Amino acid sequence: MSGGESMPELFEPYPLELVHRLIEPGPTVMITTAGEEWPTVMTNGFNMPVRHDGLLAVVIGPWDTTYESLLRRRECVIAVPGKDLIETTVDVGNSSSADVNKWERFGLSPLSASIVGAPLIEECAANIECVVEDDSLVDEYDLWILRAEAAWRRSDYEAPEFHHRGNGTFSENGATRDLRDRMTRWRNLS
Ligand SMILES: Cc1cc2nc3c(=O)[nH]c(=O)nc-3n(C[C@H](O)[C@H](O)[C@H](O)COP(=O)(O)O)c2cc1C
Repeated sequence: MSGGESMPELFEPYPLELVHRLIEPGPTVMITTAGEEWPTVMTNGFNMPVRHDGLLAVVIGPWDTTYESLLRRRECVIAVPGKDLIETTVDVGNSSSADVNKWERFGLSPLSASIVGAPLIEECAANIECVVEDDSLVDEYDLWILRAEAAWRRSDYEAPEFHHRGNGTFSENGATRDLRDRMTRWRNLS
């Protein structure tokens, strides 16, 4: 079941051709699927944009309940949490949806997505509805290629990301440097 209230007004549609910008800064994200008794939600640090047309990649391994659910349902939501959710994100990543309804346990609210059965996370800054585009690298590398089908960003979105440094320590976004005048070859990205 996916569960979830309907979309609140705090989210705006975000263009698919810009969706890579939501994870290019390397944020720690949460990933949801519809699940059985309740929707699954996990924490994910290994993720990246693949192409500018909405192709993204995430590592999700068989140690996650999410893995089985994604194999079966072939759709998920990538949710980008803000710094206010940093402890919650760590707690989500240290528990299993097989044991506990993490939504109730950690105070997260599922919202019905527009296309996929997996829920958005209302408390997150952005949500990307994805379908599995290619699972040919899953057996060997746990690497899923996903296609964004819809994306939502809070109207007050402001570089919310935090980053896992790989050992349980995290860095938060620092100063943003504007180097667009040096992006001479990639002016169209500015
Ligand atoms: C900071 C952090 C980053 C994580 N990154 C990943 C990841 O990139 N891929 C992965 O498969 N598991 C990752 N995990 C582990 C899963 O989040 C964890 O196994 C989770 O509890 C699985 O939930 P589920 O069983 O409900 O799917 C991470 C955990 C933490 C705390």
